[in-house]
Amino acid sequence: MAQKSFIVTGGGSGLGQATAAALIQQGARVTICGRRIEKIESVAASLGPNCRAIQGDITLELDRAKLIEVALAHGGGLDGLVNNAGNMYRATIDALDEARLLDIFNQNVVAGLMLSKLAVPALEKTQGSIIFLGSIHTRRAFPGGAPYAATKAALQTITKVLAAELGPRQIRVNCVLPGAVLTEINERAGLGDQSEQKARLEQLAPLHALGRSGEPHEVAEAIVYLLNAPWTTGALLDVDGGLGLGIAPF
Ligand SMILES: NC(=O)c1ccc[n+]([C@@H]2O[C@H](COP(=O)([O-])OP(=O)(O)OC[C@H]3O[C@@H](n4cnc5c(N)ncnc54)[C@H](OP(=O)(O)O)[C@@H]3O)[C@@H](O)[C@H]2O)c1
Repeated sequence: MAQKSFIVTGGGSGLGQATAAALIQQGARVTICGRRIEKIESVAASLGPNCRAIQGDITLELDRAKLIEVALAHGGGLDGLVNNAGNMYRATIDALDEARLLDIFNQNVVAGLMLSKLAVPALEKTQGSIIFLGSIHTRRAFPGGAPYAATKAALQTITKVLAAELGPRQIRVNCVLPGAVLTEINERAGLGDQSEQKARLEQLAPLHALGRSGEPHEVAEAIVYLLNAPWTTGALLDVDGGLGLGIAPF
């Protein structure tokens, strides 16, 4: 990873922050983005000069273009794009709101896909790769989870199609499907504070083969693995402590 250059969207918190830290630890140059300037700037300051922060909203075309430009200048090229930024919208069918449904597809699917399109010319030069973040929500049915799960299912299919499209150009496309990890995402969606999230994760613990929820660095390690795996493309890698196995008492 030394001297390689990566973009991690949503690198100011949670899994993105852990991925940026893991890449920096291996000597890479990383450009992170997010809408909250204070978040990304404090992460970049803690990770040192190989990490560059740029404020931006990936749903905006101009911000996407700026992100690629800054990453190319900072890294001297681009070896990988980690489409990590994401948001949560949960609603049962009776409560579905069309505007919010369209917005979550824009946030979670359209933005990363269009950013990937912009990154392809640079990735072609380095035989680089793209990572999408899928979810355990596509492996198990969580009531109220249809809007979010649908966006993640879309990304998992997009991973396979882009792997087929971009393979001949030597660009790999893979997807990590994290299980339950305590980050800000549920809190930002208004689903309770960190202590409520923690209690929810503790309830889920027995449903995991490994008996516990995950840590951000455990997902980051899988992302770094896929960025490095030269003959792996179109893979959907479950990183969930066995929650997706759907273990049921017999
Ligand atoms: N934690 C889990 O259990 C879990 C499980 C499965 C999948 N995932 C996926 O993992 C990814 C990372 O989530 P996380 O759990 O680490 O949550 P998180 O801490 O909330 O991280 C998401 C990051 O994305 C950024 N972001 C959101 N919308 C953005 C936009 N339009 N433009 C730029 N940045 C944006 C947010 O920063 P700003 O608000 O400052 O922009 C935030 O830093 C997401 O795709 C999520 O769906 C998480």
